[in-house]
Amino acid sequence: MLGLRKEFGRIAAVDGIDLEVPAGGVFGYLGPNGAGKTTSLRMLLGLVRPTSGSVELFGQDPAAVGVAALDGVAGFVENPAFYAYLSGRRNLHLLADMDGGRHHDRVEPVLEIVELDGRGDDKVGTYSQGMRQRLGLAAALLREPRLMLLDEPTNGLDPGGMRDMRRLVATLADEGLTVLLSSHLMNEVEQLCSRLAIVARGRIRFSGTLEELRARQHGPDHLLRVTDVVGALAVAGEVPGVRAEPTAGAAEILVTVDGPGDAARLTVALGRAGIGLLAMLPAAPSLEELFFDLTEGVERRGPTPGRCASSSPSAAPTWAGWRRR
Ligand SMILES: Nc1ncnc2c1ncn2[C@@H]1O[C@H](COP(=O)(O)OP(=O)(O)OP(=O)(O)O)[C@@H](O)[C@H]1O
Ligand SMILES: [Mg+2]
Repeated sequence: MLGLRKEFGRIAAVDGIDLEVPAGGVFGYLGPNGAGKTTSLRMLLGLVRPTSGSVELFGQDPAAVGVAALDGVAGFVENPAFYAYLSGRRNLHLLADMDGGRHHDRVEPVLEIVELDGRGDDKVGTYSQGMRQRLGLAAALLREPRLMLLDEPTNGLDPGGMRDMRRLVATLADEGLTVLLSSHLMNEVEQLCSRLAIVARGRIRFSGTLEELRARQHGPDHLLRVTDVVGALAVAGEVPGVRAEPTAGAAEILVTVDGPGDAARLTVALGRAGIGLLAMLPAAPSLEELFFDLTEGVERRGPTPGRCASSSPSAAPTWAGWRRR
């Protein structure tokens, strides 16, 4: 995607997106409702024309060369559509017909892959939501794609259905398929993807690896509940590699360490000083909080007094984060 933009009237659903998805693995396209995920995928699949900018799939632009650019690309946006009064198997054969009749012999293998072979002769109208999503995946797999574009494939599924769908996506990627998976769930992307882009209001707010996202988890590492806050702060001041500060109400202390060994030395030093450790909790914001900060951030909460107050949308979260959990 290069300078990709799509306007609907006065709304820029996609507002200048530059993104390259490397081959191999599952790439997460993460964003809240209305972020522009479906619109981006529609443009990638050649279903809508960009207002400006362009898309390249293996070097070809669907807006310029038409369906030929979609060779090796498959997927679905929102809910895959089927004839409800026909069986799953029949629907797949119809799709194979429409695709030039080349893929009829793929129908049985793909039904097996998505574990619908036992229900293939039932009408799609009798399928559960999870079965329909899996049939959508089967339909995409018919074309033996190298790149699979999946728009929130776990939407509307129960936890078991989500787990099955995620396993299936992971298996496909293990077998060499590149998957671009849109989602509004940070934990889903964390489970499945090594790389991701976070999109909000039509713009990319972050793009990189999960490790790079985690590196943004600035701030104190631990929250300590101790029997003597003043004494603990004095002890912490003597331990190399440890910096400590009291929380706003001075009832607990926040500790930043250079490495895990420093945290261990601090607990030993507290014990020696006769200070009891009641609890030691992780204080860094969760990835989910980072996601909220990147997509809502300053507009929702406003800068918080203390460290890291900033008006940039990529501002690091404040340590007020741990209080929300
Ligand atoms: N056909 C359309 N006509 C007018 N506005 C549209 C159209 N399609 C999308 N939009 C608007 O574009 C913005 C992005 O919508 P889009 O469906 O791409 O978001 P999304 O990230 O897929 O959201 P969701 O998580 O809810 O599926 C929204 O403000 C939406 O109302
Ligand atoms: Mg959508």
